[in-house]
Amino acid sequence: MPKVRIRPPKGKLGVLLPGLGAVSTTFIAGALLAKKGLMPPIGSLTQMQAIRLGKRSEGKSPLIKDALPLARLSDLEFCSWDIFPDNAYEAAAKAGVLSKEHLEAVRGELERIKPLPAAFDSAFVKNISGPNVKAGKSKRDLARQLQEDIREFKRKSGVSRMVMIWCASTERHMEIQPPHLSLAAFEKALDESHPSISPSMIYAYAALSEGVPYVNGSPHLAVDIPALLELARKKGVPVAGKDFKTGQTLVKTALAPMFKARMLGVSGWFSTNILGNRDGLVLDDPGSFKSKEASKKSVLEYILQPSLYPQLYKGLCHKVRIEYYPPRGDNKEGWDNIDLFGWLGYPMQMKINFLCRDSILAAPVVLDLALFIDLAQRAGMRGAQEWLSFYFKSPMHSPSVYPEHDLFIQHAKLKNTLRYLMGEKLITHLGIEYYDYWGRGR
Ligand SMILES: NC(=O)c1ccc[n+]([C@@H]2O[C@H](COP(=O)([O-])OP(=O)(O)OC[C@H]3O[C@@H](n4cnc5c(N)ncnc54)[C@H](O)[C@@H]3O)[C@@H](O)[C@H]2O)c1
Repeated sequence: MPKVRIRPPKGKLGVLLPGLGAVSTTFIAGALLAKKGLMPPIGSLTQMQAIRLGKRSEGKSPLIKDALPLARLSDLEFCSWDIFPDNAYEAAAKAGVLSKEHLEAVRGELERIKPLPAAFDSAFVKNISGPNVKAGKSKRDLARQLQEDIREFKRKSGVSRMVMIWCASTERHMEIQPPHLSLAAFEKALDESHPSISPSMIYAYAALSEGVPYVNGSPHLAVDIPALLELARKKGVPVAGKDFKTGQTLVKTALAPMFKARMLGVSGWFSTNILGNRDGLVLDDPGSFKSKEASKKSVLEYILQPSLYPQLYKGLCHKVRIEYYPPRGDNKEGWDNIDLFGWLGYPMQMKINFLCRDSILAAPVVLDLALFIDLAQRAGMRGAQEWLSFYFKSPMHSPSVYPEHDLFIQHAKLKNTLRYLMGEKLITHLGIEYYDYWGRGR
């Protein structure tokens, strides 16, 4: 297999983060702690996972970070925007995810990260408001200001390349509208400050215009519109999204494949959560919740394929709830009740109670996405990066195929893409070469 030419990760990598809330600060603090060797980067494939190369009998499984030219933790520089002026230390302390001891260990670095004024529009995020926002004559003007911020950060920090990862609040649900359909229509709508252009689209436009890859960690419509995909192609920039797959949906996309693999039927799946952080407050607004609900609900349909297996999955009742419950803060609790049936249709139930930590699950995902999308950029890969669907609840995909939600297929796809980039043989798991089934010798 020919090796893809990948530019080496020379110099520093700037990680641009719209939103300096629980996820961003947990990611930044964790990356700094891991860089100093104070805490292990658990949950991160780029830091901890090995990749098998060649046959099982060859015993060759280097770490991903040693096998591929990824940016190192010591190469990362951070830049952010938020509607609140708190620096990363203050924001992390308010988010209440990490202990005082951990925050103190990287306090100086965190305090130096001060959010730039945000491009914000309360028509898209209802339940919060803050003073640190940009004033602009038009949405085009806001995009220009963001582009200037990006250039200024590059100048000041001396980074050689950048990636942008949206870690700000979930915006209200929106369907694709005419200004989203082409770059020309989008730019006209920017000039006219058209109501269909959201802040996250303005950030995405600014990033792509500067040749910076964009990743959407939230479920709303943003870079996944034809206009911005056109810009990504034009600029030769990779994009990915959307909605980090971290808690309940991670579990769902691991379990549903098991039911299907064993041809067990599912008649109902009820999922509910209680969540008390700022994200929970934003999702308490029906507009933002609708974005999240659509993203969380889509996975079962695709994994279980009721059109192929109507006897097992047709008419499955799938409900998803999120309740804002302040006492829990970032420590989300999720419950799932699954009504399933087996041999001769006999019913069974499964109950799952996941006491998770939202940002602890999301932080390594942000790190991996930053390093992988930078790798994609240096490998010359532009447009939607489906191989990163492993990290998303609503993965972006080519219009010619359905999205792949099965966690294990996503994982195999990710690792085979890495092997492909390295010029290594893809692993099919056929394994027939280890046996002499037909007695012809091997
Ligand atoms: N934690 C998870 O497991 C997880 C999983 C999937 C998706 N997400 C998404 O990640 C995002 C971040 O989650 P979080 O827990 O850090 O939320 P958070 O509320 O703690 O942080 C989001 C920050 O974004 C800021 N913000 C809002 N609009 C902005 C704008 N236009 N520009 C700049 N800043 C803006 C808010 O002031 C806030 O500080 C949310 O959209 C959430 O839905 C999180």
